[in-house]
Amino acid sequence: MASSATKEKVLEENRRVHALENRLYLSRHPEQTNFFQTAILEKTLDAVCSTLKQDSRVLDLGCGTGYLSLGFLSRGYRLTGLDLSQEMIQAFEDSLPEELQPQAQFIVGDVEEFLLQNQEEFDVIALSAILHHLFDYESVLRKICARLSSGNQLVIFFEPLKQEVESPLRFALHRALSWLDEKLYRSEMNMRNISVLDEEYHHSDYQRQFGGIDPSRVQKILLDEGLEVLKIEKYCARRYGFHAWLANKVLKTQNTFNLLATRL
Ligand SMILES: C[S@@+](CC[C@H](N)C(=O)[O-])C[C@H]1O[C@@H](n2cnc3c(N)ncnc32)[C@H](O)[C@@H]1O
Repeated sequence: MASSATKEKVLEENRRVHALENRLYLSRHPEQTNFFQTAILEKTLDAVCSTLKQDSRVLDLGCGTGYLSLGFLSRGYRLTGLDLSQEMIQAFEDSLPEELQPQAQFIVGDVEEFLLQNQEEFDVIALSAILHHLFDYESVLRKICARLSSGNQLVIFFEPLKQEVESPLRFALHRALSWLDEKLYRSEMNMRNISVLDEEYHHSDYQRQFGGIDPSRVQKILLDEGLEVLKIEKYCARRYGFHAWLANKVLKTQNTFNLLATRL
């Protein structure tokens, strides 16, 4: 698919959009905080942390306002949070409980630059909802793999997935539920006086133009780079937990994936 975007343009749009998202990011994205998604988040964090030593170091790339990072911090691990957006990092720092502050370090910058310049070792490299914001996610993934030593883990969380249409009826119901979910979400945001930023997103979630991220492509890259893929979880995220439950338990549709990998 043709696109007029360049790497610089995607970076610039990500800076601009996330400066606007800022403190209200997670209020605008209840699909990340509803009960259904929270259960998946906690289960994933428990799986990753079950093999970690107490003084382990976690790197959260594109940490935003701390969605994934907080889970590692509250479990006692040391965390480096990197994000392109000064405003998202500031919101994260400002909301971080005082007792967790000594464990956390924050860096503002582009993930690719960081991986080129920083040579520290991390036990876990975690990414939540960042790959689809990158101009060349494959090259970033390869750089991340090169940083993982034996026993280190990679967590890719909450990435949009290319949707496959198997049954037209099921897909129609999936679309109807999505419509209802979005309609209720917009009314709620309106009532709470929270602006939705649709008009601002053009190239910033760049990979969505190609339908999202393909987990089998990610898996192939990781295998090429010598990692073992432990788990790929595909499911349907929705703004509201009940809608996510319906989509997963009744319609059995998918639009999101998580992946755990390690270097042997
Ligand atoms: C959808 S948000 C997800 C934030 C957080 N990880 C979460 O799950 O709530 C994407 C984040 O990636 C950051 N980001 C986008 N492009 C980036 C880049 N090239 N380098 C570092 N961070 C980037 C954005 O600033 C934003 O905070």
